[in-house]
Amino acid sequence: MLVSHTLHWWQKEIIYQVYPRSFKDTSGNGIGDLRGITQKAVYFQWLGVKAVWLSPVYPSPMKDFGYDISDYCNIHPTLGTMEDFDNLLHELHERGIKLIMDLVPNHTSDVHEWFMESRKSKDNPKRDWYIWADPADSGGPPNNWRSEFGGSAWELDSQTGQYYCHSFLKEQPDLNWFNPEVREAMWEVMRFWLNKGVDGFRVDVLWYLIKDRLLRNNPPNPDWEEGMPDHDKLITAFSNDQPEVHDVVEQMRRVVDEYPNRLIIGEIYLPVDKLVMYYGKEPDTGVHLPFNFHLVSTEWDAQQINKLISEYEGALPAGGWPNWVLGNHDKSRIKARVGEDQLFNAALLLLTLRGTPTMYYGDELGMNDVEIPPEKIQDPREFREPGIGVGRDPQRTPMQWNNSKNAGFTNHDPWLPVGADYQTNNVDSLMENQHGLLQFYHDLIALRQKEPALHGGSFHPVGVQNQLLCYRRQHEQSAFFIALNLGKEETSFTPSFKWRGVVEIASNPKRKGEKIENTIHVNGNDGLLIRITGNSEAG
Ligand code: NOJ
Repeated sequence: MLVSHTLHWWQKEIIYQVYPRSFKDTSGNGIGDLRGITQKAVYFQWLGVKAVWLSPVYPSPMKDFGYDISDYCNIHPTLGTMEDFDNLLHELHERGIKLIMDLVPNHTSDVHEWFMESRKSKDNPKRDWYIWADPADSGGPPNNWRSEFGGSAWELDSQTGQYYCHSFLKEQPDLNWFNPEVREAMWEVMRFWLNKGVDGFRVDVLWYLIKDRLLRNNPPNPDWEEGMPDHDKLITAFSNDQPEVHDVVEQMRRVVDEYPNRLIIGEIYLPVDKLVMYYGKEPDTGVHLPFNFHLVSTEWDAQQINKLISEYEGALPAGGWPNWVLGNHDKSRIKARVGEDQLFNAALLLLTLRGTPTMYYGDELGMNDVEIPPEKIQDPREFREPGIGVGRDPQRTPMQWNNSKNAGFTNHDPWLPVGADYQTNNVDSLMENQHGLLQFYHDLIALRQKEPALHGGSFHPVGVQNQLLCYRRQHEQSAFFIALNLGKEETSFTPSFKWRGVVEIASNPKRKGEKIENTIHVNGNDGLLIRITGNSEAG
């Protein structure tokens, strides 16, 4: 049984994702910056956040808002300077908060000097750093691969008559990860930041790094229908998740392991059985946390979520530490997906499942997707495939700090509109509301940190009744019963064992302190976290 002192920080603590452009603007240009994040370190501390992941802060033409990097070892001037970065790192570390950087190894910007060299000629020493191929025999792109952002994944370079591969925008050429020089160069990038003292990386599209050597065509997706994203027309059998990617991951892990106590998280959207391969064949040969996004895509239904949890728990390899995510900068906000009434349950679920939770900034306020007027659209995804819901601006809007103009995010025009609900849904106002979502997160995080059963204990499914999802967490003699009513109807449930407990945290504050014995009644949309005081099954 794991006890909390044997757990690593990244197992015990929650991770909080900051989208730097939208967190806090101190320079007055309407775009968030590093100084703004430093200024808010006190907020992380109050909330109980012990690890912050920053979406990319590197120099970039911003075609994909920082995921098109032109210099891996520098800071984008709009976001600040290297000195600002060092100050941020220092400030966070002083407060016992870790800093995780975004690493984007699959592609660079097309204005990165590596690509500018590579495209010069077929015999340029950097030619093979990217994926170049001749046109197909019949002319046109070398194969049928689609960009994630729609259209062919190949762009013709007229100067040399060859195509280069880009899994995203044409301004984001894919690096050739079969080339050992590329690997070495990226390891050096990692060491640069690790030497500065950063605590780890979230690795962008890790499962994309290796493509089929033979560049075989992807098969068609029989489930594709009009109105679905262009990319989904094909099954990505050959353009990602190739067997050789695991060797790359293993090497990457070794680089991180040159430094004590660091973390790699992999961004990987794959079914559970394939996702867990990224823990590595042997312990400590993969990433520590292959991001588990399945709560984002699973229907908000007690049966479905129960099934997902057992599938995921059952698929984890020995020593593989679980993790859960409810939202990020690419997905609709949790509020837009499950509705306001379920936000307390979403918090309870994320923070009481076994494994490391990752929160997305503003979800603790119940920030919603914000409707973006056409003239304010920023995201290239929306421009390329308008109106089908793939644009990501709605979930990237400014953090809502207070009820002053622009929610206290900036004193200029914000780069994306502020949510219309900011007058009430903001940090300052919600801190005053003892029964609001923010205080609920605060209290839940504090309890999670204090209780080994919650941050490190074992997980036991208890049952599902209608929309009531019940499970238990246990460490030695201390145990909790979690009951989440994901539906609107009041539901009662009597587990097969005898037990009693006291409600410790409840979405309905009136239930706090209530004693429960054997049968539990939960109103629609309510959630309870109950300290078990007696249990015939687990002592
Ligand atoms: C995944 C990132 O999360 C997303 O924002 C980005 O557009 C793509 N990777 C390309 O880097």
